[in-house]
Amino acid sequence: MIKAITGTKDILPNEISDWKHLESIVNTIFTSFNYKEIRTPIFEETSLFARGIGEETDIVGKEMYTFIDRSGTSVTLKPEMTASVVRAFIEHSLGKLQPLNKFFYISPMFRQERPQAGRQRQFHQFGGEALGSTSPLLDAELIIIAYQILISLGLKDLTVKINSLGIPASRENYKKLLRDYLKDKKHKLSEDSRKRYDMNVLRIFDSKVESDQEILKDAPLIIDHIDEESKRDFEIVKEILDKSNIPYEIDPKLVRGLDYYSKTTFEIISGKVGSQSALCGGGRYDLLVEQLGGTATPGVGFAAGIERILLACENEKSLNIPAENIDLYVVKLDENLSSEVFDLGLKFRKENLAVEFDYLNRSVKAQMREANKLKARFVLFVGGDEYKSGKLNLKNMSTGDQQLIQIPDAGIISEIINSHIHSDSKEK
Ligand code: HAM
Repeated sequence: MIKAITGTKDILPNEISDWKHLESIVNTIFTSFNYKEIRTPIFEETSLFARGIGEETDIVGKEMYTFIDRSGTSVTLKPEMTASVVRAFIEHSLGKLQPLNKFFYISPMFRQERPQAGRQRQFHQFGGEALGSTSPLLDAELIIIAYQILISLGLKDLTVKINSLGIPASRENYKKLLRDYLKDKKHKLSEDSRKRYDMNVLRIFDSKVESDQEILKDAPLIIDHIDEESKRDFEIVKEILDKSNIPYEIDPKLVRGLDYYSKTTFEIISGKVGSQSALCGGGRYDLLVEQLGGTATPGVGFAAGIERILLACENEKSLNIPAENIDLYVVKLDENLSSEVFDLGLKFRKENLAVEFDYLNRSVKAQMREANKLKARFVLFVGGDEYKSGKLNLKNMSTGDQQLIQIPDAGIISEIINSHIHSDSKEK
């Protein structure tokens, strides 16, 4: 039997209502902050990610799905969206249309990581990117958006972590300090951390090895060595979060795994999803546009993992989305009325009602069982003496009320059902 590739998952119909609910919250909240949706291709030229994310990061070094296509071009399934958004921004000169561009997206991503709960090889992110301003108001705005989306999904066990990595010049100075501190302890570090010492020393903070963390206990912290401008911006972000009642922690060890960050970085962590606890991550990337060949344009953004968020929702039992019910089930009482039932079905479907009937020649009892299973709001009986005398019987499944309707007036049925749907949604 052919199975789905390791690390990928089917999203089955019984899970779709949760996905749609999340997507509609993402749409509503980003739209209320005037972010516009952007969709970019699933694959890009490999060099975009190598240059954008950084050759020495885990993503570029060992996680990308890269292949040579038939024309000999090296292409990569996108492991993240920021580089793609920046590519599209430069390619279409979007910065010339308006000075500030705010984008949001929902898209599958691909990283060849070791699969585990909350970590897949094809996963989905939603996120936002604001290009065109250095204002820390935008850093705070994006943290607020991410937090608001998670809260709207009913999540409670959340921790917002923030840090500042400073501008590249101050970060380079700090890296020297960190290397100096670790120099005589290097031999005690894990193999991975020893590699990072030379290639990407900040990432040693991400090590899960206890003895590495022990060594780092007294290490100098980046937040104490950032430049004045980054410090000032970080203070503003904190002030806004305070005013917006968003609880946060300063985590001086939050270095993030992508090379493009400068100044503020942040993550939101869930206490309910095990080791893969980061629901979202982001930060400022003021040099990325220029680095990818565009006119220097500052940027800031975040992305959130949808599978992880839904796992957190499941573990916190925070979502209670009822399965979508159908509006009408047409029950066929006489076998020879198949084409009449089919035509009635079409008629109501054209009026945008969700309609179903039997295709399997089932008994009336079995059709009723199906109507119940589908949680039909109404059932329409077609056949029997009523039909012979020119009438259809419409049953409201929540009240049990039945009503006879003259066939030429069948249009009234959709009015009855629609008014019922409206009163239902008002009650909610
Ligand atoms: P990231 O931290 O690599 O950042 O990913 C963001 C989120 O995507 C993570 O917090 C996690 O929830 C989810 N995620 C990452 N990898 C996986 C995986 N293998 N399986 C399931 N979920 C995963 C970025 O991608 C940046 N582009 C964020 C950003 C946007 N920074 C600025 N703008």
